[in-house]
Amino acid sequence: MEVIITPDRDKAALLTARIVAKELRAKPSLVLGLATGRTMERVYAYLAHFHQQEGLDFSRCHTFNLDEYIGIPAGHEGTYRQYMDQHLFQKVNIPLEHTHLPDGAAPDLGAECLRYESRIRELGGIDLQLLGIGIDGHIGFNEPLSALLSRTREKALTPATLAQNAEMFGGDVARVPRRAITMGVGTILDCGRCLLLATGSTKAAVLAQAVEGPITSMVTASALQLHPRCQVVVDEEASTALRGQEYYRWIFANEPEWAEFRDLDALEPR
Ligand code: GLP
Repeated sequence: MEVIITPDRDKAALLTARIVAKELRAKPSLVLGLATGRTMERVYAYLAHFHQQEGLDFSRCHTFNLDEYIGIPAGHEGTYRQYMDQHLFQKVNIPLEHTHLPDGAAPDLGAECLRYESRIRELGGIDLQLLGIGIDGHIGFNEPLSALLSRTREKALTPATLAQNAEMFGGDVARVPRRAITMGVGTILDCGRCLLLATGSTKAAVLAQAVEGPITSMVTASALQLHPRCQVVVDEEASTALRGQEYYRWIFANEPEWAEFRDLDALEPR
């Protein structure tokens, strides 16, 4: 695992978007795993800029989202499909049929979970998976005690997650769906490369547990420590509880892999 500390949330999103853009340019048929949440909105805004201003091409890319709520109709403003349409899909040239999310309104949810896993396999697996982190340490909707080898399945959400995600439901916790379909931790670990983005002081404690704490199903993001290529991009606020900050900063300042990304101002859209 590597941790990159950037000055603020905007630069963290910019760096994340630049890494995605580089992968997409290197492999136009990239299979890209996507996450939702407020943190990701800036990343998608940058990717839309890169498309509009620099011609970043999404026409051959396929995407798989981590999760989707159960029990709200397709087209409802709270669905992650709506979120993705609004923040990314309508702003870039990705064919709609290349965008995949679990169908939380499917009549047979068990069959839908199996279908989702097969579709990922048919397309050769996820090359790069974007991830956020929940306040309870979840990735996707893999809540505490999710099996670290779990696959796509239904999951009941914790009170902390319901509260965290209420904003997208008019601030009313009672309106947040109680269940979701989520890729499993095992599904996520199968991807070629993971990129986790965490910003803001509310994420500092749980991020330190995920990155530097023991691998535990109580903090499912900690399973990313097992992944051979996982990078974590944070801002100063989210980095405050990390013990290894000095080393992480040295790596970013010195390792050749990061040379082209070091001058964060130069990464801004042209
Ligand atoms: C939801 C998503 C997670 C995401 C989290 C972070 O719970 N299912 O995949 O990591 O939101 O949300 P935010 O970026 O709003 O803090």
